[in-house]
Amino acid sequence: MQRTHHCAQLRSSDIGSSVTLVGWVDSIRDQGGIIFIDLRDREGITQVKLEPNSNADTGARAHHLKPESVVQVSGVVTARPSGTANAGLATGEIEVDATGLTVHNGADTPPFPLDDVGGDRVNEDLRLTYRYLDLRRPKMRRNLVTRHRATKAIRDYFDAEGFIEVETPALFKSTPEGAREYLVPSRIHPGQFYALSQSPQQFKQILMVAGVERYFQIARCFRDEDLRADRQMEFTQVDVEASFIDREDVYAIFEGMLKKVWKDVLDVDLPTPFLRMPFVEAMNRFGVDKPDMRFGLELVDLSETFRNSAFKVFQSTVAGGGAVKALNAKGLADLTQGELKNLEDVAKSLGARGLAFIKVEGGEWKSPIVKFFSEAEKAELTRMLAIEEGDIVFFAAASWEKACAILGRIRLESGTLLQKRGKLSIRHDDWKFLWVVDFPLMSYDEEAGRFVATHHPFTAPVAEDAALLDSDPKKVRGQHYDVVLNGMELGGGSIRIHQPALQKKVFEDVLQIPADVVESRFGYMLKAFTYGAPPHGGIAFGLDRMVALLCGTTSIRDVIAFPKTQKGQCLMTQSPTPVTEKQLRELHVAVSAVDA
Ligand code: AMO
Ligand code: AMP
Repeated sequence: MQRTHHCAQLRSSDIGSSVTLVGWVDSIRDQGGIIFIDLRDREGITQVKLEPNSNADTGARAHHLKPESVVQVSGVVTARPSGTANAGLATGEIEVDATGLTVHNGADTPPFPLDDVGGDRVNEDLRLTYRYLDLRRPKMRRNLVTRHRATKAIRDYFDAEGFIEVETPALFKSTPEGAREYLVPSRIHPGQFYALSQSPQQFKQILMVAGVERYFQIARCFRDEDLRADRQMEFTQVDVEASFIDREDVYAIFEGMLKKVWKDVLDVDLPTPFLRMPFVEAMNRFGVDKPDMRFGLELVDLSETFRNSAFKVFQSTVAGGGAVKALNAKGLADLTQGELKNLEDVAKSLGARGLAFIKVEGGEWKSPIVKFFSEAEKAELTRMLAIEEGDIVFFAAASWEKACAILGRIRLESGTLLQKRGKLSIRHDDWKFLWVVDFPLMSYDEEAGRFVATHHPFTAPVAEDAALLDSDPKKVRGQHYDVVLNGMELGGGSIRIHQPALQKKVFEDVLQIPADVVESRFGYMLKAFTYGAPPHGGIAFGLDRMVALLCGTTSIRDVIAFPKTQKGQCLMTQSPTPVTEKQLRELHVAVSAVDA
């Protein structure tokens, strides 16, 4: 080994020892002849002192030592002179009096500061171009370690619970039912393609038929989606499936897993069981199927209040089967014109015609619509929304889904604005987990003119609703569940259909996929189910999202070593790139459009 200790290891008890340290020059200060180096490795920092004309000093000067150079230092541990100890550093009481210095490599000046504060200020594209430097920052290094700890806790947990990790193929076949896929041309089969696996869903169900009983996998998944802070084209799932279990078993197993991860990584004891909330309640109260439960500002349904109103916008919406919903953003009456305009733009981007509001200032209701309200309606509003001085109430009149979605977003935006004003505290480490349950099994896709699976076509209906599959598919609830944490969907899964006849019926009669297409896409699965498929179910967690929340960051790019940008590029390696004619010929691929 080139080193005797790492850079966060030496203490007063080591004074007098001869040591050798290696690492990067974090900073270098020349103080009238004596040179001080803060030497850094992945564990921490040790101060090294180079006396004038010692071998070490000569070495440093000969190389015009610059920050980020890689050096090896030998010397003796000494106490820092009294008054110069650094309480902020684990090694702050000592320094290494260097007798020898080897420069393993020099370094150019980094294009941005490698400390947490300085690095956070620079453009993310620059950090991604020089990711190897970005990852030297303490914060990014901590994120990598947290990811490792979380992954290890998960593997230990499932191992102890009798689950075995099985790898499934990344090269799968195209199943256009889900998200958009990445296609991989086959050289050996001209004109044919693999698709990169969007999730191990079908293989893990087949593993249940194979008698594995308890499976898990830390699985890489690929989806050609528009990228956002919580979405990458290539991401990692903690994927799980088990036989002979019901929903209650799933809740207990995964609460146990999350409890262990939070304990091992953060030393936090999560209270269990988690809250459970039906999908309809989540939408009604929070306007979204992944509610952030760290603050209130709940939505209120005013459809009955306005059923016979003189205000035509609201009255006609209710008459047409829609809903009028409102939200009291308590204490936000002081929002600026610009902030109000932003909220209106958010509402409009979700299909709202406008965002009606009532602002209470100086004891007065200031609003473009209040003149249309009767005294009785105003009294009802005051009661239902607990309207007080300083409040602003927002309204959305639209289809139930749309009205919920609009105010759901306005609620989140209002939360942010209130937090900025110090009127609301939303802490990243206020862990509000919940299960969202009782999703509709199918939703009607207006564009396609048919039902589509709300999650995927393998989810079993709730037993007592199964009879409605033929008569009223909309009403059928699925045995699906999502785990939500602080407004983020962490994971989702379901109890699956295991009877081949029911699975075929869902494909063909409910989802109206032609029989020959069902056969070519899912025939192998239906066949497998005829050879003794156990009842089974499972779930998949977004590992990147979970680690991001553990690290207190909102972007999963911060917890992935080498993520893609919003535009799907790796700025460090400069991918994607064109390929040669020869490669294309071999793969039987002709390129029709080339980006200018
Ligand atoms: P689902 O599609 O809901 O379910 O995915 C499960 C979880 O994976 C995470 N996730 C993502 N994370 C980062 N980037 C993405 N592009 C991305 N897409 C999804 C989310 C999500 O909750 N096979 C089913 C699970 C099952 O039924 O067992 C599935 O893939 O955290
Ligand atoms: P209008 O009668 O269309 O001028 O709308 C009067 C007020 O109601 C304006 O402030 C609009 O922004 C708002 N508004 C219009 N339609 C809706 C709607 N569907 N939901 C909520 N507010 C609306």
